[in-house]
Amino acid sequence: MEEPTSMVLFLMGKNQFVSAILAMEALTALTFCLIVLQMLIESSAVLVAGWHRMGYRYINNNQSLMSKELENQIRKLHGMVGNAVTSGKYILFGAGSTQLLNAAVHALSLHHNASSPPTPVLASIPFYTLYKQQTDVFGSSNFKFEGDASLWMNNSDSNNTNLIEFVTSPNNPDGKLNKAVLQGPNAKAIYDRVYYWPHFTAIPASADEDIMLFSISKLTGHAGARFGWAVIKDETIYQRMTMYIGVNTMGVPREAQLRALKLINVVLQGRGREIFEFGYKTLSNRWENLSQTLSVSTRFSLQKIGDQYCRFFHKVRKPSPAYAWLRCEREEDKDCYAVLKAANIIGRRGGVFGAEDRYVRLSLLRSQDDFDLLLHRLNQLVLEEDKIKTMPIM
Ligand SMILES: Cc1ncc(COP(=O)(O)O)c(C=O)c1O
Repeated sequence: MEEPTSMVLFLMGKNQFVSAILAMEALTALTFCLIVLQMLIESSAVLVAGWHRMGYRYINNNQSLMSKELENQIRKLHGMVGNAVTSGKYILFGAGSTQLLNAAVHALSLHHNASSPPTPVLASIPFYTLYKQQTDVFGSSNFKFEGDASLWMNNSDSNNTNLIEFVTSPNNPDGKLNKAVLQGPNAKAIYDRVYYWPHFTAIPASADEDIMLFSISKLTGHAGARFGWAVIKDETIYQRMTMYIGVNTMGVPREAQLRALKLINVVLQGRGREIFEFGYKTLSNRWENLSQTLSVSTRFSLQKIGDQYCRFFHKVRKPSPAYAWLRCEREEDKDCYAVLKAANIIGRRGGVFGAEDRYVRLSLLRSQDDFDLLLHRLNQLVLEEDKIKTMPIM
């Protein structure tokens, strides 16, 4: 029998045969590239067999509802980034940090005396809206949302009353690295640190508060995985929060824990460089473009955020917030949301954050196309200001 190649050669002629070989080689190279690409993409993939991890508890972790390996990797991650002290502290998982917010309020208000009024839950304006919504919905005789924390600073009652303060650092919506405004033995702070990662902010120091909350949704963007964690100093508070999670949902789904473990391992593999550098570059560019566009405007202004030394990047870095906190400066523009809406820009009203409606939050965590469109539309608004200024007076 003839060799297949010589058969092909006979049928095709020599030049055609060489072209066919080159084409095959190109195809092989392309296939190889696609496989490597696929492998890179899939380094964060999770495949769960039907029989895997069916029970409530981890048999190899003292019947706990939490994966020990995931807890260890979370500690390693904080150590690598340098954004939180975890040694000597407890870690508790929740269905997003959302579930842990109220778990913490519940835990801090448990010693509440039945004959005294509910423990006030407070936050600095502008604050993340869920603190109020959750506290209102889950409100019990133990706690009640009372709004602006600063109003309690000089309140004589505050020396005798227990107070719970949500401190969001960096803050949603304005990106500020907030600190607790209430001090003293009766003031307890819940530090919401979900944005305290190098893509959103400089990391000036390792946070070391008694209750700190983090989330995979702000670390890698996997909001739908519904996985968050609390770092807790006090054992009693940890036990109460653990009880709350147990009674509420019997822990966090195994699948969510598995996915979080995989994602955190991928972040750890590159020592966080890839994700944080990409995130920082993207967001700082967006912030710079936005600031430049609005720098010539007298109608709109943005929050001020300065450059700051970051111990993760080992350098002074520019701002890269997740959100812009825009203010309409004209007296008549009291409803800033409506002003922007008329220009086809959808933000979130200041009132949602306990602030005036003269403010609007714009999200910078969008696709590049969406962001470019936002910039374009804002630019149009700013250009109109010029036209109005140069219009002849009749
Ligand atoms: C300040 C703050 N805390 C908590 C959350 C809740 O995040 P998750 O439940 O996805 O962890 C968010 C989400 O936007 C947030 O902005």
